[in-house]
Amino acid sequence: MSETQNSSNSFGLNRRELLRILGLSPLVAMAATQSHASAIVRSVFKKSGQDQAEFVPDVELTLTAAPAEISIFDGEPTRVWQFTGKLLKGPTNTLEVLPNSYLGPVIRLRRGQKVRINFLNRLSEDSIIHWHGLDLPEVADGHPRMTIGPGRQYTYEFVVANRAGTYWYHPHPHMRTGAQVYRGLAGLLLVQDGEEDALKLPSGDYEHLCVLQDRVFDSRNQLVFHNGGMMEMMSGFLGDVMMVSGEVQPKKDVDAGWHRVRFLNGSNSRFYKLAWSRTADMVVIGGDGGLLEKPLQRKMITLAPGQRADVLINLSRFAAGAEIHLDSEAFDAADAGGMMGMMGRMMGNRSIKPNGAPLRLMTLKISSKKGVDYTVPGRLSTYDESWKLNSSAKVRRVPIYFQRMQWGLGAGAFEMESVANDEIVEAGSTHIWEFANLTNPMGMQAAHPIHMHGRQFRVIRRSGGAGSNSLRAGIHDAGWTDTVLVLPGETVKVQVTFTKNPGLYLYHCHILEHEDMGMMRNFKVVPQPIK
Ligand code: C2O
Ligand code: CU
Ligand code: CU
Repeated sequence: MSETQNSSNSFGLNRRELLRILGLSPLVAMAATQSHASAIVRSVFKKSGQDQAEFVPDVELTLTAAPAEISIFDGEPTRVWQFTGKLLKGPTNTLEVLPNSYLGPVIRLRRGQKVRINFLNRLSEDSIIHWHGLDLPEVADGHPRMTIGPGRQYTYEFVVANRAGTYWYHPHPHMRTGAQVYRGLAGLLLVQDGEEDALKLPSGDYEHLCVLQDRVFDSRNQLVFHNGGMMEMMSGFLGDVMMVSGEVQPKKDVDAGWHRVRFLNGSNSRFYKLAWSRTADMVVIGGDGGLLEKPLQRKMITLAPGQRADVLINLSRFAAGAEIHLDSEAFDAADAGGMMGMMGRMMGNRSIKPNGAPLRLMTLKISSKKGVDYTVPGRLSTYDESWKLNSSAKVRRVPIYFQRMQWGLGAGAFEMESVANDEIVEAGSTHIWEFANLTNPMGMQAAHPIHMHGRQFRVIRRSGGAGSNSLRAGIHDAGWTDTVLVLPGETVKVQVTFTKNPGLYLYHCHILEHEDMGMMRNFKVVPQPIK
């Protein structure tokens, strides 16, 4: 490949953006020449094990973020922001458009595929896409310092290193993530692999992709968002219309028999305590990071913003015409940090349905008795054999707190480039991070879903907090996760083996209003060993 193809043009960035990504000051930027810049790009790719000159993608697609109109209600269409996809190379089922949804296309990838995604920003503001849950080189992770302006393009190149699972993508510009996701910018990214294929899980008409989101609409069918006031940022945005993959409380005709339902909590701030109205149980087969070792029988699942759950349900015992509802059961608002929510509403939060209100999300109606039969295997995955508790790993305590009218974690509010000493880790090293949701003398406490970029991690211990917390019953800590819910007063220990890709990555609360107000930090992965 020629020199020009390695230059900033094929990278989709101008020099200013590139230098910003690389963390160079304007002064250095002024001194840097174009050839310097392209040499730096190449070295970033080299460092991450991806030399652009050798990168021949198996899958290539373009994702454009742009304003669009969607018909959600009778009358005026709703103005949204939407990702639309175009497949340039690869299997024809790579992109699946959800009909009549503001969500971006479902992207189906296979482990090991080489993928190139060209992101085109046709919005009126800066943006960048992050691939939530994927283990990626620094330049492909969508850190907020990599945002590109309107009309510009950013090219991601990566190899799918993750195992099969339910991942997702969304914008990640600092202080604008909540607003952009709310307007519609989000989509599912499903990875498949041989281990999952072998289970022959229900698919096609028997697989349902459910992205749970809450919205507020005005009388002319337009989205209403919070005004960015401090109380609304602290309590988080809550809507009163429940949407499942872009449809308002959908009713689906389904055959009896077994179904696979994959959930993503794509809401800005709402928690769900998912339960079916008529089947007693569901079988949880996967979480954020793919299949569990063994299936879990559950009556309910607590799903915080950013989290996913992969479940099987058996509808064979129902007669044609029967309706099974998916509900979010009532829980005590105080258990999610209800005091904040209450104050937020008093101060003008438009939410009619607080966190914890019982909600109907969707309905499955049995249209025919014939469906697929399925025997859930006792063992779903052998991947857990690669994991063990590392009792000699370094332990770092990460406080979660409320200070100076802000939620925070770690050393302080987010700064674009900064890392504290204990946020520097060696590539591929294993650590224990202990998220401590501190009690606050003012009573300011909330449940925070803490997300780490890069590798999936394990929850190894939960302690403290009120045993009576009504969200706790729906939490399981089995399997691999990238977003862990830390309840008020709790300390949650996780064991994480950091990505092998050096660079600056994020960890943050996935309540998008909290993230946007700075409840986010960098960690820096450095090549071993630390000097
Ligand atoms: Cu889904 Cu850093 O986020
Ligand atoms: Cu992420
Ligand atoms: Cu939070």
